[in-house]
Amino acid sequence: MDIETAIRSRKSIRGFKPDPVPRQLIEQVLTLACRAPSTMNTQPWEFVVAGGEVLRAIAAQNVMRLREGVMICPEHVITGWPPRSVYRERQVEVAKRIFSLMGIAREDRVRRAEWMERGFRFFDAPAAVIILTDTALSEGGPLMDIGALMQTLCLAALAHGLGTCIEDQGVMYPEVLRSVLKIPDTKRILICVALGYPDPDFPANALESPREDIAAITSWHGFD
Ligand SMILES: Cc1cc2nc3c(=O)[nH]c(=O)nc-3n(C[C@H](O)[C@H](O)[C@H](O)COP(=O)(O)O)c2cc1C
Repeated sequence: MDIETAIRSRKSIRGFKPDPVPRQLIEQVLTLACRAPSTMNTQPWEFVVAGGEVLRAIAAQNVMRLREGVMICPEHVITGWPPRSVYRERQVEVAKRIFSLMGIAREDRVRRAEWMERGFRFFDAPAAVIILTDTALSEGGPLMDIGALMQTLCLAALAHGLGTCIEDQGVMYPEVLRSVLKIPDTKRILICVALGYPDPDFPANALESPREDIAAITSWHGFD
């Protein structure tokens, strides 16, 4: 697959086949992902990979907490989108498209809650890569590098026939990940990537998320 096709065809996958992903394949994907650039080659990332029963146990605990209304406590910076901003509009637009594909009505609170739970269940993916950084580093410092890593990881997975969804829903209860996966306090849990073989029949996988035209977000200087 050429690079342009890969970039154009990468998309978030939120429905997976149950087939497990072999550890060696994930190793290959992570090895490729680590070719991502980072500030002065600092590579401020580490991975914890969970799959099978271990991942299901984490998912179950996440969902239990969500249902009990336990306060989320992410360790990564949460941006938040100002109301009436273009960011909020884009967020609402993508949510509308997902709910429409899934046939979930705006007022259907039960199915909306179920959809929310899917994210906390890693979309039932057979594997998830939890991305950590070192607490010795500043909170914001590694984030650009991690962004480059995440996109490279998703493209590497695609090259190996795997679908991905970068998701912060999976790391909203870091205490669960810490206790099940024995993650020490010296590491900050940033984000996770659900990983598996895409289910072609899962409606939300058909989502084509829109992008702003570059004319609206680019200014040119020194060009005709
Ligand atoms: C940092 C980050 C966090 C994300 N968290 C979630 C998430 O928790 N749940 C989810 O369904 N999608 C999540 N996404 C996926 C975005 O919604 C998705 O990338 C965006 O809508 C564009 O769609 P595309 O990935 O299909 O191009 C996240 C993406 C990024 C980059």
